[in-house]
Amino acid sequence: MAVTLVIGTQWGDEGKGKVVDYFSKDADYVVRFQGGNNAGHTIKVRDEIYKLHVIPSGVIQGKTGVIGNGVVIDPEILINEINELTKRGIKPKLLISDRANIIMPYHKILDGAEEQYLDEKKIGTTKRGIGPCYSDKVSRKGIRAIDLTDKKTLSKLLDRIVPIKQKIIDIYGIDEKVDKREILEAYSNYGKQLKNYITTTHIKLNKSIQKGKNILFEGAQGTMLDVDFGTYPYTTSSHVIAGGSSIGAGIGPKYINEIIGIVKAYTTRVGEGPLPTELSDKIGEYLQQKGHEFGTTTSRPRRCGWLDLVVVRHACMISGITKLAITKLDVLDSLKQVRICTHYQLNGKKIDYFPANIEDVKQCKPIYKEFKGWDEIDKNSSKFSDLPKEAQEYLNFIEKELQVPIAVVSIGPGRRETIEI
Ligand code: IMP
Repeated sequence: MAVTLVIGTQWGDEGKGKVVDYFSKDADYVVRFQGGNNAGHTIKVRDEIYKLHVIPSGVIQGKTGVIGNGVVIDPEILINEINELTKRGIKPKLLISDRANIIMPYHKILDGAEEQYLDEKKIGTTKRGIGPCYSDKVSRKGIRAIDLTDKKTLSKLLDRIVPIKQKIIDIYGIDEKVDKREILEAYSNYGKQLKNYITTTHIKLNKSIQKGKNILFEGAQGTMLDVDFGTYPYTTSSHVIAGGSSIGAGIGPKYINEIIGIVKAYTTRVGEGPLPTELSDKIGEYLQQKGHEFGTTTSRPRRCGWLDLVVVRHACMISGITKLAITKLDVLDSLKQVRICTHYQLNGKKIDYFPANIEDVKQCKPIYKEFKGWDEIDKNSSKFSDLPKEAQEYLNFIEKELQVPIAVVSIGPGRRETIEI
């Protein structure tokens, strides 16, 4: 039995979809444990490109996908994804936790209203209703997957919640009516369509662990978007780090054998908030274009910068990362010099940790180590020694600094463009 966890070490978009797809060949179950359709995972199989937002990427490999209790689900999006995959010949095997919270129409309205109200102080959310849905979960006003399957219960819950939401929407001055009857009809209809998938996923997963099955946890977003350990308040609303998998799927931490941290060879971020190694120059533009750094979910351009090991060190520590997977190394091809940030300068002091105070983070000046660049990585490279010498030096430095071994290096979007070490 092996329980493996794959998580992002930066601000999301590290290329987790490809790595999860790669590791899922040995998995029986692939599990999402947090986030919702704010995520976007792209998987390329031969000439086919799949973009998934809620369904775990492993279903492309024919594995059973599990949407854990820690995920927030927009049922309309989920049903569309199921139908789209089915049309393309992949009938997804899927289990949905009965305890997962549901994104409701008023969550999406409020996500937009809050951002609009905050104006230039906004978070830059994906406006998918993620934050308001998690807020309702914690303040005990959530609707859960199981509630969609029982119209009477759903009706009672809506009677309690809808007037509160209407009041808040009115305060924002938004001209939107939250129509309880309309929501009840639409969401109990979603319940009918999803009923066969909704189950006690935590029991199924624990029994599978006892039977020695292989389970792969697929993280969404990245450590710096974690609600506690990220660049708060410029974060998402869930627990992105390794510990989140235990809470978000209902399995004990003792069962996790391997924690794989995905590190993009440079850094990107979407939305607002500090990015210490940001490059607002030609190199930043080069990385954005060459790396196709435009959001899978919102198409927003991603801000780009050099690799920041203060960030990745922080991620390795709080998640107890056991192996690294380096992605998009080829995007750095053809640069004369490449840089890695090892520390920050803050108020005249050299620091190696990520500060909690967001104003301090904004003041942090990266301290860089410079490396000679390389020409072009051969896409047929199959082992570490096939990589250009300079690229090997770059990777060796990362491994040495973090004291965590690199297990995989991705040198292109295709499945084959992967080097196992
Ligand atoms: P939310 O998750 O929609 O509330 O957005 C909060 C912040 O997290 C924003 O800066 C988003 O751009 C960012 N974010 C959310 N999901 C992702 C993701 O999958 N990749 C990268 N950034 C994300």
